[in-house]
Amino acid sequence: MSFVTRRKAITPELAHNDGHHRLKATLSWPHLMALGIGAIIGTGIYTLTGVAAGLAGPAVILSFAVAGAVCACAALCYAEMASLMPQAGSAYAYSYTTLGEGVAWVIGWSLILEYTLVCSAVSVGWSGYATGLIQQAHWAIPQYLLAGPEAGGLVNLPAVFITLVVTAMLLVGTRESATVNFVLVCVKLVALAVFVALTLPHFEASHFHPFAPFGYGAEEIDGKKVGVMGAAAIIFFAFYGFDAISTAAEEAKNPGRDLTIGIVGSMVICTLIYMVVAACALGASPYDVFSRDPAPLAFVLKEIGQGQAAAWVAGAAVLAMPTVIMVFMFGQSRVFFAMARDGLLPRWLAAVTPRGVPGRVTILTGVIAAVIAGVMPLSEIASLANAGTLAAFIATIIAVLALRRSAPALARSFRTPLVWVIGPAGVVGCLYLFTSLSAKTMIFFAVWNAAGVVVYLLYGRVKSRLA
Ligand code: ALA
Repeated sequence: MSFVTRRKAITPELAHNDGHHRLKATLSWPHLMALGIGAIIGTGIYTLTGVAAGLAGPAVILSFAVAGAVCACAALCYAEMASLMPQAGSAYAYSYTTLGEGVAWVIGWSLILEYTLVCSAVSVGWSGYATGLIQQAHWAIPQYLLAGPEAGGLVNLPAVFITLVVTAMLLVGTRESATVNFVLVCVKLVALAVFVALTLPHFEASHFHPFAPFGYGAEEIDGKKVGVMGAAAIIFFAFYGFDAISTAAEEAKNPGRDLTIGIVGSMVICTLIYMVVAACALGASPYDVFSRDPAPLAFVLKEIGQGQAAAWVAGAAVLAMPTVIMVFMFGQSRVFFAMARDGLLPRWLAAVTPRGVPGRVTILTGVIAAVIAGVMPLSEIASLANAGTLAAFIATIIAVLALRRSAPALARSFRTPLVWVIGPAGVVGCLYLFTSLSAKTMIFFAVWNAAGVVVYLLYGRVKSRLA
C-alpha cells in the first residue's frame, strides 16, 4: 500500500493506546447540543444575514434554505461517522480510516484552515458589535485601533482581544468551558426570540417585492458573487458548527446516543431559528437598508423604534458570540491533536495538561487566529473558512458511502436514512456552493492546499505512525 492510500484501522484502540495522549470523557448530550448551538448561531445570523441579503435581496430566504439543506445532508453523515468512530479529529479521522492518509491529510489541513478562520471571522463580527458599544460609552480608543487595514484602520484590537480571552478560557479546561457555553447559548437564543417578538408586528409583505433582484444563480460582479447561490455560498457560514461537536466525540460519555442527538438536534433547531429570524428582518425593514449595516439585527430594531431592545440585542451578541469562537478553537485544537497523535504533525504539540487540555495547540491556534482577526476583513475570512468546510463535508459524505460498501455489517448506532440519495445530493450541493465562492477565495484555498502537500511530503509522509 502506498503512503497516500495507507489507512488506520476503524477500531478506536489505535487512538487510545497511549495514556498520556488521551482526553477525558466528561460530556453528555445536553453539553454536546449546547456545544453545537453555541457553534452554529453566531456571526452568520447576527452579521452575515445583512451581507447575504445585499447579495440576493429578499430571496436570501431561499439561500438559507439551500445552505441549510446541504448542511442537513452533511449533518446526517457526520452523525453516522461520529457514532461509528468516536475519536477526536472529525472529518480528518473519518477520511483516515476510509479514504487513506493522503486524503486525510488534505482534509485535516483544510480543517485547520476552517477552524482557525472561523475563530478569526467571529472575532471580527464580535468586534463590530463591541465597537458600537464602545463608541456609545464614549471610551477614548483611537479609531485606527478599532478596525483592520481594509476598513481604514491599523489593527482590529477588539477582535484580537476576544480571541485571546477565549484561548485563556479553554486552557482552564473542557468541563468548565462547556458549562459557561451552556449559559451563553441561552442568552443568544433569548436575544433572537426578543428580536422575532418585536419585529413580527411590523411585518410588511411589500418588502418581499421584487423577490430576487439579482437572480437565482451566482454571477461575479466586482469580485463578489451575487444572486441566490452566491448568497448561499456566504450564508453557508451560518450553518456549520455541528461538525465541531464530532471533534469532541472522544470526550462524550455515551458517543452513540449523545452525538446523534447533539449533531442532528442542534442542526434542526438552528435551521428553524434562522428561517424565522431572516423572514422577520426582511418583513420589518427593506433589505437594501439593513444590509448595509455591520450590525443588521440591531439596526432593524432601531428602525422600528426599539432603540432600547437594539442595545440589549447588541449586548447579548457581544456576550454570547464568543461561544462560537470557543467551540471552533476547541475543535481546532482537537484536530491538531489527532493529527499530531498520528505522527502527521509534531507530537510535542499534542501533549495534554493535567487538566486534560492540549495546551500548546490551544495557545498556537489562539495566537494565529488573533493575528488574522486583527488585520483581515470579515467577508474574505468567512469565504475562505467556507471553502475548507465544504472540502471536509464532501470527504465525510464520501467516507460514509465508501464504508457502507466496504463494511456493510459494521454496527452503526446511527444510520443516515436514504444514504444513496442524501449522500450524493450533499456532495453535489457542496460542490455547487464551492463553485459559487469568489475566484479569489478559490485561489487562496488552492495555495493553502499546495503548501499543505509540501508539508506532508517533507514531514507527515515520513513521521506517520503508519510509516
Ligand atoms: N455558524 C457559525 C456562525 O454563524 C460559524 O458564526
